[in-house]
Amino acid sequence: MKKFIALALCAIMTLTMFTGCGAKGKTLDEVKEAGKLVIATSPDFPPFETIEGGEVVGIEVDIMNLICKELGVELEIVQMDFDTVLVGIQSAKYDCGMSGITANEDRKKNMLFTVPYYEAAQVIVVKEGSDIKGKADLEGKSVSVQTGTTADEGCKEAGYNVQAFAANADAKAALTTGKVDAWVVDNLTAIQMVEEGDGLVILEEKMTTEPYAFAFAFGSEDLVAEIDKILTKLIEDGTIEEIFANYDETYFKP
Ligand code: ARG
Repeated sequence: MKKFIALALCAIMTLTMFTGCGAKGKTLDEVKEAGKLVIATSPDFPPFETIEGGEVVGIEVDIMNLICKELGVELEIVQMDFDTVLVGIQSAKYDCGMSGITANEDRKKNMLFTVPYYEAAQVIVVKEGSDIKGKADLEGKSVSVQTGTTADEGCKEAGYNVQAFAANADAKAALTTGKVDAWVVDNLTAIQMVEEGDGLVILEEKMTTEPYAFAFAFGSEDLVAEIDKILTKLIEDGTIEEIFANYDETYFKP
């Protein structure tokens, strides 16, 4: 019997080694050796990442381009849904998560984050003339969100009737087609996507404020430390602000 238990323990230990526990993020040296940083993104989030002419462009692409240039590596972008980005980073399938990712305490249990470079907010979007004027009016209402986002988590916690969609555009479409009463999404993306028309308005009252950062798997500590140095410099010398300004001056209106 003892022998059997020992054997079973051995088998379990070997299994864990080859699954989750074994996956580690790349070190700085490993990324330099590979000559590229493999970046996972959900490019349905203007102005941070969106597709234009078949290419992923946006504020975060510009920032990551500068970071990769400093590191002396190429950047390789892989597209997927937002919830897959988070899973892919946690399991070290990709080197870096770039998706307007909110760096919160919950996620910090599962992955590493760079220093934040922007303080975002969740906003409520409704149809013009809606009787929803603020957070308090959401009680008992149906709300669309993107799957796996902080909006998804927050709205479920608040007890709203949540409909989650893998693609951000579908979360918006649920509101325009009247399937839900409100759409909860990040502030700058809301501004950009509401500008497309469709008679939507963004409510004044914010749901939350939350910092954006780039995500990495555990094991990439020295890589993150190096990127933090580069990112901090880009924040302090005004480069990040300039990049934001290039996308839309409306973002800087109080
Ligand atoms: N900031 C939110 C979060 O981290 C939403 C991010 C959605 N990003 C995207 N590329 N669709 O949960």
